[in-house]
Amino acid sequence: MSYSGGEEVVLSLVIPTYNESENLPRLIPQLCELLGGILSDRYELIIVDDDSPDFTWKVAQDLAVNYPRLKVIRRRGEKGLSTAVVRGWQEARGEILGVIDADLQHPPQTLLLLWQEMERGADLAVASRHVEGGGVSDWSLTRRFLSRSAQILALIILPEVVSRVSDPLSGYFLIRRRCLLGKTLNPLGYKILVEVLARGKIRWIGEVGYVFQERQEGKSKVTFKEYVDYIRHLARLRLSLWQESRFFRFAFVGFTGVFVDMFFLFLLSDPTMLALPLTRSKIIAAQLAIVNNFLWNDAWTFGDIAERQPGIRRKIRRFFKFNCICMGGLILNVLLLNIFFNLLGWNRYLANLMAIILVTVWNYWLNLKLNWRTADANKN
Ligand code: GDD
Ligand code: MN
Repeated sequence: MSYSGGEEVVLSLVIPTYNESENLPRLIPQLCELLGGILSDRYELIIVDDDSPDFTWKVAQDLAVNYPRLKVIRRRGEKGLSTAVVRGWQEARGEILGVIDADLQHPPQTLLLLWQEMERGADLAVASRHVEGGGVSDWSLTRRFLSRSAQILALIILPEVVSRVSDPLSGYFLIRRRCLLGKTLNPLGYKILVEVLARGKIRWIGEVGYVFQERQEGKSKVTFKEYVDYIRHLARLRLSLWQESRFFRFAFVGFTGVFVDMFFLFLLSDPTMLALPLTRSKIIAAQLAIVNNFLWNDAWTFGDIAERQPGIRRKIRRFFKFNCICMGGLILNVLLLNIFFNLLGWNRYLANLMAIILVTVWNYWLNLKLNWRTADANKN
């Protein structure tokens, strides 16, 4: 559907639909009246329908004849609320992207409050059921319990993401396009906001209260599969955020070093093996672990920085620095090992593990600050 003229579009509001043919004829006029009042014709509504059996896409196409700001995408062979929203945002031309449900459970007039938040400068404006003026209509206790437990689960798995808003399960919000530039959204199931919070570059979040209404027509598409997808989505985001975190990679490499260290400590010092003195065995085992850790850290943890310092000479210099820093860590490690083992009487392997954990943090920061970062041309 092409728009009259080439006027700029400031807001692109996506409406994911599945079997909403009875709701659209009520929702679209309300949205056009509300948004027309504040944005004239500088907005677009994008319906993304997954080939609804009730021909929602046909109803939407017929509505688009009278509502020129309405665009309709009919997906075939694809299904899913959050991926439908992403698809709509891919087509969107607005500087601000949004999502609202088609079933009028998200009151259209709340858009005005969301828009005010964006005009105040928010990167993300969320319609929340859990702030002043928010709530749900007469939800059953079970649904309240399920919704709250879903939120608590998200808080446990993704605390740094989900704790930023009071209603992370909301499906009603506006986001600045620039916060998502260059980001790949790969959501699962219903919770598009969790994906946006985890992936987006979002500073300022505004929240407005709204009361989640009772559905008048049609029925909720939430099935057990949505709950399973939700948990898979949280787990997938957790893993990917960890992989993005440099310290997690450093700690993971350190973890592999533990096995190298333990293996050679056993081989060298265990009474049933070579039975060499503990300290000498520990120094050799730790040195071999340091070589292992450097190779992995230089290729993976700090790989993006290391590749800006090409050449074997620079690599050897990084290894030398890594070794010196880790030597300091090794001395600290041996000291702690002897304190925990000889002074505190801990089991030798528990003492070694605790010493390694404490030294890992020491090694990370010193290597980041004094090694990879110092030689980094793009140091920021
Ligand atoms: N394209 C597409 N594909 N749209 C879908 C699909 C799908 O597979 N499943 C649902 N939708 C659309 C529905 O047509 C409706 O417009 C909207 O997504 C919400 O679907 P509901 O089935 O009505 O969800 P709900 O009311 O139980 O929960 C909603 O509200 C919660 C609170 O805001 C959802 O938006 C939840 O994500 C949200 O947490
Ligand atoms: Mn609904």
